[in-house]
Amino acid sequence: MSNLLHRSLKEPLPLIEHGMGVRLYDSNGKEYIDGSSGAFVVSLGHSNAEVLKSYNELIQKITYVNGTQFTNENAEDLAKKLCEKSKKIGLNRCGFISSGSEAVEAALKLARQIHIERGEKSRKIFISRTPSYHGNTLFALSASGRPGYKKNFSDYLVHFESLTTPYEYVALNNITSNSKTYLAEPYLDELSKKIASIGKDNIAGLILEPISGSSVAGALPPSGYLKGIEKICKANGILTIADEVLVGMGRTGTYYASEHDSFNPDFLTLGKGLNGGLTALSAVLTREEHFETIRNGSKKLDHAQTFMHCPGSVAAGIAVFDYFEKHLVLKNVIQIGDYLNQKLRSAFENHDHVGFISNIGLLFGIEIVENKSNKSPFPIERKITEKLTHAALESGLTLWPNTGHRENGDGDIILLGPPLVLNRSEADEIVTRLLLAFDSVF
Ligand SMILES: Cc1ncc(COP(=O)(O)O)c(C=O)c1O
Repeated sequence: MSNLLHRSLKEPLPLIEHGMGVRLYDSNGKEYIDGSSGAFVVSLGHSNAEVLKSYNELIQKITYVNGTQFTNENAEDLAKKLCEKSKKIGLNRCGFISSGSEAVEAALKLARQIHIERGEKSRKIFISRTPSYHGNTLFALSASGRPGYKKNFSDYLVHFESLTTPYEYVALNNITSNSKTYLAEPYLDELSKKIASIGKDNIAGLILEPISGSSVAGALPPSGYLKGIEKICKANGILTIADEVLVGMGRTGTYYASEHDSFNPDFLTLGKGLNGGLTALSAVLTREEHFETIRNGSKKLDHAQTFMHCPGSVAAGIAVFDYFEKHLVLKNVIQIGDYLNQKLRSAFENHDHVGFISNIGLLFGIEIVENKSNKSPFPIERKITEKLTHAALESGLTLWPNTGHRENGDGDIILLGPPLVLNRSEADEIVTRLLLAFDSVF
């Protein structure tokens, strides 16, 4: 009899006894490759001895102080390191919280605070995109373009205006559009029309993932899209929030996914891989000008939580960051990402039910369709993603499932996001195990 409130109650969950590198081992002795780094968290692999050692050293002196009364060396140090790496996108203030949802909440609330401090109190409405996921606390869930996750809580959520998330596979040659080129203009027009209909003086901010994470895995926006969004928002006084909880911290081959299109957001969130799975740690970064607005105004953040800037949690981020730098992890992400991309394409591109493979760095999405010629998805009742994820687990591979990104709640994508320290033979094993899973389902 377990007293734990398990998250999935369909069948008993395997008990993981330990992890090492990219592998997990359960109590029956079964071994798995962690193809999704847990929930895209374990960026440097399980039980990474060097990371654990430096984390241990960093928590010896102090593990907690009240962030309103004191600052601490760990938080100052990690803020400096992250801001130095964000020079290209111009962020120079960084705060630490615990989860990705909290980082999103903090960014949204800070954006509203900035408008209030500037005397622009009418700017209340936020815009997000569909599909998207920004977290599960109520403000972050409100921002998420995920109708299924919201349905039981709609009475408690605030309204977000919605834009279409760019996704090349659906955008090109779909039933309603015959376009053969993936262009930014239609999406930018949609934003301009939205601003005109709401009135720019009523809009506080726009939140988006610069590269889509779990909802349309690794889907890249069309060239010029992010720069276009930035330009339109700036011209209309709308603050932008780049949610990099999943795609930041090296997953796409750069510290910040916003770098890929030289996007300069007003706020940026990090989580997941930032802590490597050691402790709950997320971050919100912003520009000096916004910090100055608060310093010259109320002089206090309107968002505070007990574990903000907690030195014990931040120690995990320092240990992870230092390992990234010392072992050139970003270089590995690009090299092994390319290698795994080629292997996956040669193994799956011609499969009858693989419609699209998206990739950047070590983030992959494989869209499964019923009919490749017209890109039509399987009806969701067929539970294709669930079956594939289950079969992969049987073959010793964890995947991240995503469903419902197409119309009517259909749509199946399986995601791969292995630890960023993956090597070639482990990449080969991932492909072999995934092939076994496909064989067993189709
Ligand atoms: C883009 C994005 N933002 C926010 C979150 C929420 O993070 P957490 O689950 O740590 O609260 C997630 C989680 O998957 C995410 O992918």
